[in-house]
Amino acid sequence: MGRRIAAKITGVAAYVPPRVVTNFDLEKVVETNDEWIRTRTGIRERHYVEPGMTASHMATEACRQLLESKNVAPEEIDLIVVGTVTPDMLFPATACLVQHNLGAKNAWGFDLSAACSGFVYALTVGAQFVGAGTHKKALVIGSDVMSAILDFQDRATCVLFGDAAGAVLVEPAQSDSEGIIDFMCDIDGAGGCQLYMPGGGSLHPASRETVDKRMHYVHQEGQQVFKYAVRRMSDVSSELLERNGLSGKDLALVVPHQANLRIIRATQERLGLDDSKMMVNIDRYGNTTAATVPLGLRDAVEQKRLRKGDLVLLIAVGAGYTTGGILLRWAY
Ligand SMILES: CC(C)(COP(=O)(O)OP(=O)(O)OC[C@H]1O[C@@H](n2cnc3c(N)ncnc32)[C@H](O)[C@@H]1OP(=O)(O)O)[C@@H](O)C(=O)NCCC(=O)NCCS
Repeated sequence: MGRRIAAKITGVAAYVPPRVVTNFDLEKVVETNDEWIRTRTGIRERHYVEPGMTASHMATEACRQLLESKNVAPEEIDLIVVGTVTPDMLFPATACLVQHNLGAKNAWGFDLSAACSGFVYALTVGAQFVGAGTHKKALVIGSDVMSAILDFQDRATCVLFGDAAGAVLVEPAQSDSEGIIDFMCDIDGAGGCQLYMPGGGSLHPASRETVDKRMHYVHQEGQQVFKYAVRRMSDVSSELLERNGLSGKDLALVVPHQANLRIIRATQERLGLDDSKMMVNIDRYGNTTAATVPLGLRDAVEQKRLRKGDLVLLIAVGAGYTTGGILLRWAY
């Protein structure tokens, strides 16, 4: 049996910074070309913040839109969980900055570090508080300014990422026919050395040397990460369905993490789904780390691809390694 959480998503919003950076723009920065990026990753363009805009600013923008669309006052929010690996600062938590920006004076909250699985982990954790009945309105956010930690001398990595934030409102489910049916989250720390940012933590505090050695940027073994992501996205998706007596046919939509179109298509093939059941927007945004899944939900709602009662699968793999999957019934 699944691990049900009696909580549901009741609204979604996203913020994407206006500045578009195309593959052709990147051709002027690193030795790359539009054709390589498109065919190897599926990405055509991504968005970057202007200097000064941070993860908390983007998260605040997404939440403001969300609260306005739901006609919810900031004071009604009782919990804020932020998935991010690019917080404004190491501390205080981005959740505190967002709480202050919004005027959500009755909320407590915290950040959660799970890289590209950040939103799925944050939703799992935030929903638990709502499902337990101790919280009524939680904001669950994924926000990352990847452009702040990209090495524009590393062409295999810098072309992959973009900036964005997405947020959902989580409220108690009223019946078993809505909300979270099951979730699976796991970590595999053996993969920690394949995708990481070595500088700026307690291992290598910021120094002239760490800057000279470009340690404050994303370091990635792309092929290793690729193989792990293909395997785990497919395995966890299949297991979540199987242990609930479901199959790919029952799904209305999969909202996968957007790291590489080839990873998404491999997952799709394993589940036996046609294109209409996969949310794909990597072409426009690239990999926005913790923001991909809520951004995918936002786009799916805008494209009217979600209806009340639909079976939806959220699935992500990220640095750590972290893997997270959530199976839910869409509630509005
Ligand atoms: C990064 C990634 C796109 C690279 O694709 P790949 O097919 O594995 O490519 P390779 O690393 O084998 O490189 C192939 C060639 O392209 C070159 N190349 C790499 N980046 C390039 C770029 N931006 N433009 C042009 N050529 C590039 C390489 O130097 C290599 O050249 P060589 O054969 O002469 O040595 C792919 O491995 C990937 O998507 N990995 C997962 C990334 C990810 O999901 N990260 C987030 C985790 S959630």
